Amino acid sequence: MSFSSFPQRRPRRLRTTPAMRRLVAETRLHRSDLILPVFVKESLDEPQPILSMPGVVQHSSDSLRRAAAQAAELGLGGIMLFGIPAVRDAQGSASLDPEGILNRSIREVRAEVGDELVVMSDLCLDEFTDHGHCGVLDEQGRVDNDASLEIYAQMAVAQAEAGAHLLGPSGMMDGQVAVIRQALDGAGFTETGVLAYAAKYASAFYGPFRDAVDSQLKGDRRTYQMDGANRREALIEVELDLEEGADMVMVKPAMSYLDILADVAAMSPVPVAAYQISGEYAMIEAAAANGWIDRRAAIQESVLSIKRAGADNILTYWAVELAEWLAE
Ligand code: PBG
Repeated sequence: MSFSSFPQRRPRRLRTTPAMRRLVAETRLHRSDLILPVFVKESLDEPQPILSMPGVVQHSSDSLRRAAAQAAELGLGGIMLFGIPAVRDAQGSASLDPEGILNRSIREVRAEVGDELVVMSDLCLDEFTDHGHCGVLDEQGRVDNDASLEIYAQMAVAQAEAGAHLLGPSGMMDGQVAVIRQALDGAGFTETGVLAYAAKYASAFYGPFRDAVDSQLKGDRRTYQMDGANRREALIEVELDLEEGADMVMVKPAMSYLDILADVAAMSPVPVAAYQISGEYAMIEAAAANGWIDRRAAIQESVLSIKRAGADNILTYWAVELAEWLAE
């Protein structure tokens, strides 16, 4: 018997026990990495389940307050609010009303958690427009970039007045970060930050979100969201948002865009967030419900992959459950 074939290096030594694996883990998830996205719907008495996102609800004002308190208690990094108004119009007017569902909810959540949890709000028109686009339309029915910016500027001030710590412009209009920064500074909200959805791709995985916000969208968002074929272009979007004053940048979706996330993490001088979106959530929940995958292991692996690719913060609908697991 020859000994010459013994391996000189044995990487398996560092995998022998759970304690050994823990010692050498290169990536660790922390509860403060996690941001919980939440939906709040106007005039709801009780939270309503979202069929395509089992375990996620459209909140009432009361249940939203409780969810925010729980998120703060668990030490999550933040909460991202999406509002679903009772009435929609072509201009998305309810987004500017200080008593509109989103602005009111920001105020209620801040009253509940103070500065214990970073309160973020989606700054976009699609939840508020009757046509479901992220901007207003011109006479030809196309999304009008610059007319939409004027509304975003006013939304920014309304959300800052309501008390959001970070605004999340997600409409992918050119110049949106610049007009928001200018509007905030002009109104004296110099400390309100911008978490820019910098590289946001048109994706089939947003499907369940349409249920979550009762979206009326017909057609698609391909004239403003990025084309999944493009990798370099993400860097332009990030550079522009940085020039325009973004405090943090985001890549979205997460799992099908981990290469983009790694590129952005390698060049970004500001913190990088990634959004594990509704369809990513629904896929794992559906497979787990069928007994086809181990739910907890799949969730943990999916979120770890996003952190490993370079995300500092992860928006995930599992934020509460993950934080509970991390506390075990
Ligand atoms: C736009 C917005 C969307 C999501 C977050 N912000 C929908 C879209 O761009 O089509 C999707 C989030 C998810 O799918 O979980 N306001």
